[in-house]
Amino acid sequence: MIVTRIGYGCMPLGGAWDATPLDEATRQKAVTSVRAALDTGITFFDHADIYCRGKSEEVFAGIWRDTPNLRGKLVLQSKCGIRFADDPFPGAPQRFDFSYEHIVNSVEGSLKRLQTDYLDVLLLHRPDPLVEPEEVARAFADLHRHGKVRYFGVSNHTAAQLALLQKYVTQPIVANQIALNVLHTHVFDEGINFNQTKPERITRNEDTIEYCRLHNITIQAWGPLAWGRLTGNAREPLSASESATAGLIKALAAKKGVQPEAILVAWLLRHPAKIQPIIGTTNPGRIQASCAADQVDLSREEWYEVFVAGRGERLP
Ligand SMILES: NC(=O)c1ccc[n+]([C@@H]2O[C@H](COP(=O)([O-])OP(=O)(O)OC[C@H]3O[C@@H](n4cnc5c(N)ncnc54)[C@H](OP(=O)(O)O)[C@@H]3O)[C@@H](O)[C@H]2O)c1
Repeated sequence: MIVTRIGYGCMPLGGAWDATPLDEATRQKAVTSVRAALDTGITFFDHADIYCRGKSEEVFAGIWRDTPNLRGKLVLQSKCGIRFADDPFPGAPQRFDFSYEHIVNSVEGSLKRLQTDYLDVLLLHRPDPLVEPEEVARAFADLHRHGKVRYFGVSNHTAAQLALLQKYVTQPIVANQIALNVLHTHVFDEGINFNQTKPERITRNEDTIEYCRLHNITIQAWGPLAWGRLTGNAREPLSASESATAGLIKALAAKKGVQPEAILVAWLLRHPAKIQPIIGTTNPGRIQASCAADQVDLSREEWYEVFVAGRGERLP
């Protein structure tokens, strides 16, 4: 399966995360954002059954009317495994659910809302402590056999959780989607912090990046724009190190003749794990600015400058 290096995250397309019905303005805005992503060359679109309670998948389907004969040119990914509180009965807690029934029912719901016969990729959204890998394997096998899902992956999983699933799942696990950006570098830090004494730097050595590289699992980065925190969307004041990082990103952008969003994305693309950033901006200008990342070459020194600034502490 060939996918674009940058993917488009459809989480906010459905508007509100409550039961408010979709309105025409939200539908129009969603199609405009998706069209802007398509215009930059993006063909990979990331969804989840829960995004805006299903409305993000539903509004996305508007693109079929906007652009006929598009389905075969796109790679559609969705996720399952998170259940809201009060589903299916009042008082049920928010939880994770990797049961056969939930996985299969969730995919049926996504297919209906997306108005398509198949998902290209299905991810398990967040690790379920009650996971029975044999049950996941059975659900994946049935979905695959019936042509409803082509490829499978996970999100927010550690190396050991991946290995456990892969022991039972017959299909290769092709992706692990994790939070990763200039201000959120834990998975890069894991390997550096190994065997150090500083308490604030001790992490369980989960080797997520290395495991994915060893097993050809694409790392998809969610939150790649650092949620706009360094580029004008900071709800709380920036710390001193965040301000310095924002300044560095701006200076690099000016040097390379691009917008700061391109530097944030290029920093992920520069990593040899072939990370796939999943950008979540709905703003057409920021979508275009982010995708200019593919014209930016960051040197080893520039990459490390950004890394050190973002983690807020010099390397050992
Ligand atoms: N697997 C998971 O657990 C998980 C979790 C979260 C998200 N995701 C996926 O990853 C995708 C991207 O993640 P994300 O949206 O959290 O991260 P992101 O791409 O880093 O941030 C996008 C958000 O930041 C805002 N933003 C960015 N730059 C801005 C600026 N200069 N000024 C104002 N606002 C700015 C955007 O608003 P505008 O739309 O106004 O630009 C949007 O709300 C999601 O759509 C979803 O598909 C996955």
